[in-house]
Amino acid sequence: MTEFVINGGRKLRGSIAVQGSKNSALPLLAATLLVCGEVVIENCPELSDVDCALEILTYLGCTVDRCGHSVAIDCTSMHAHDIPERLMKRMRSSVVFLGAILARAGRAEMTMPGGCMLGPRPIDYHIDALRALGADIDSEGDRLICRACRLCGCDVFLPFPSVGTTENAMLAASASRGSTRIMNAAREPEIQDLAGFMNAIGIPVRGAGTSVIEVEGGIRTHGTHYAVMTDRIAAGTYLCATAVCGGTVELTNARPEHIEALTGALRRAGCEILEKPGYCKLTAPSHIAPVGIVETRPYPGHATDMQPPLMALMCTAAGTSVFIENIFESRYNHIVGLRRMGADIQNEGRFAAIHGVSKLTGCPVTALDLRAGAALVTAALGAYGETSVSHIEHLERGYERMDEVLCGLGADVIRREH
Ligand code: EPU
Repeated sequence: MTEFVINGGRKLRGSIAVQGSKNSALPLLAATLLVCGEVVIENCPELSDVDCALEILTYLGCTVDRCGHSVAIDCTSMHAHDIPERLMKRMRSSVVFLGAILARAGRAEMTMPGGCMLGPRPIDYHIDALRALGADIDSEGDRLICRACRLCGCDVFLPFPSVGTTENAMLAASASRGSTRIMNAAREPEIQDLAGFMNAIGIPVRGAGTSVIEVEGGIRTHGTHYAVMTDRIAAGTYLCATAVCGGTVELTNARPEHIEALTGALRRAGCEILEKPGYCKLTAPSHIAPVGIVETRPYPGHATDMQPPLMALMCTAAGTSVFIENIFESRYNHIVGLRRMGADIQNEGRFAAIHGVSKLTGCPVTALDLRAGAALVTAALGAYGETSVSHIEHLERGYERMDEVLCGLGADVIRREH
């Protein structure tokens, strides 16, 4: 087991070139299946979830050549249409391979995906969207067997703007006859990045970033070079960490327009934030103010992925903040660790009231999922004394060399193997 040992209380100062986005890279890697020929994905973060996506591509028969943040993928020789359970269970995003494999091979087989334990994470919207496009989908226990002799473009209505469902529908629509309109589509920046990639390989996609996305199907694709966008959640996490510790951080390749809900909350907390295109600088106040009510919503609302690190910041604010988690049923896995460190948090279902205390104190805590781990690291950086955060394999799914990034800002973080 590997853990981070963090000695809190050091101010953070410096500059970070934020990593490529995990939640963008994963659907882009699945989308490389739509191309016969070489695609080069640049700015691809080095994360265990990305390793898993590359293993899936290799298993399917694609050639994968990785050199740092650049990955060359050639899916010309794809020969399999199934994904083994051991790969499906490693991450939730394996499910976006469903639309891509179906588009490429006309059939797909896989088990239910794994991923962070955030309450029930069904895939009924995905299945309904693919069925609307003409796929036959049967389930045998945990196994899904999908066939699509002929996918047909149509209007696909999503009951909720689900990110993964929108991605799957876009991918499957690319192989459909005619055009598809995805209604009530997710508007997250990751969807816009996938649309950018699909346009770059020759598939016309319009409307990404709005609630109606149109995809032209049956168009011949070609290779491309494409750079993954900056990770808005990693960017936001490092802003929260600096706000907890005091100090100043500059994000040199940020997309401030992607994190406006968060920067709005950080300003309410007293942080000074300077934004320019591609740049964001945060200077922390001497005392953090409570942010009031934070209700998570689909983009452009408060991102559910930012809720845990922002809650960590509110633990030492001068007053009470209230969080309402609307996206996932059970996304408060960080509360147990924060309470161990001395946080005063009341939690009832989707609601959490955080009454700020003057300090948190370091102790052993466990990262129960990716963003819960990010919250514990954030809290530990500002706490008195030593905190050990175990199960950092969760963090390594989404944050590239987090210990080195934080040490580069002056934090005291050591990676310890047991
Ligand atoms: N939902 C269903 N049925 C479905 C699909 C979704 O009921 O078929 C529900 C989910 O259970 C959830 C809600 O709809 O309650 C939203 O789910 P969505 O499909 O939008 O989320 P996702 O695609 O599974 C992605 C990110 C998450 C991020 C959410 C929301 C990736 C790989 N994951 O998940 O990121 O929290 O969108 O923005 O893109 C993370 O990075 O830590 C993470 C969990």
